[in-house]
Amino acid sequence: MHLTLAIAKGRLQQQALETCRRAGISVPKEELDSRRLMIKDASGRYSFLFVKPGDVPTYVEYGVADAGICGRDVLLETSAEVHEPLDLRFGRCKLVVAGKPESAERGYNPLVTARVATKYPRVTADYFQRRGVPVELIVLSGSVELAPLLGLSDHIVDLVETGRTLSENGLVVIDTIAESSARLIVNRASYHLKRAEIAQLLASLREVLSAG
Ligand code: PRP
Repeated sequence: MHLTLAIAKGRLQQQALETCRRAGISVPKEELDSRRLMIKDASGRYSFLFVKPGDVPTYVEYGVADAGICGRDVLLETSAEVHEPLDLRFGRCKLVVAGKPESAERGYNPLVTARVATKYPRVTADYFQRRGVPVELIVLSGSVELAPLLGLSDHIVDLVETGRTLSENGLVVIDTIAESSARLIVNRASYHLKRAEIAQLLASLREVLSAG
């Protein structure tokens, strides 16, 4: 039976495809070099969909993809109803609260609404709510580090990988909300209806992981 995999475009894409290649699912180079968003592997047993990272859980939850590869950060934000059987261990980064050193020193004040810029409104709202700090969310779709520099927000909630973007913009980490890495997710129905194919995919990926 055929499996369709949704792959997050961007940062995780190369390592996701490399991991699949090592697991025996290889995509012809001319297909990869094309701009096609849906391609087949050499065996014809797998199709790949290349989609925005935040959309991977949606494609998998609705079953148009049987499985997908995306960051844990995206899963925390979307809370999609999918199985998450495997940590693929690449794409490691942290979801943090950051700000200017002054705002880090001030900390949070439960009597003052914190203005926070982020691409992760649900995770952010949940984090501040749990601390009893009122929050005003400023939802951006990128270059979030600019917000505190321009006085648009007090803090940001964003991903940190090497820490370069924060440090080169004079920002510091205030708190770590979660650790993230690439995850394999699987549609709930496919998990049962395509049990053998999913089990084989998981076994091949686990072999790649244990080979290091
Ligand atoms: C991500 C993230 C940070 C940066 C962190 O942005 O949102 O801005 O990478 O990486 P670093 O710690 O290694 O500097 P991305 O490059 O995906 O672009 P974006 O700002 O458009 O989201």
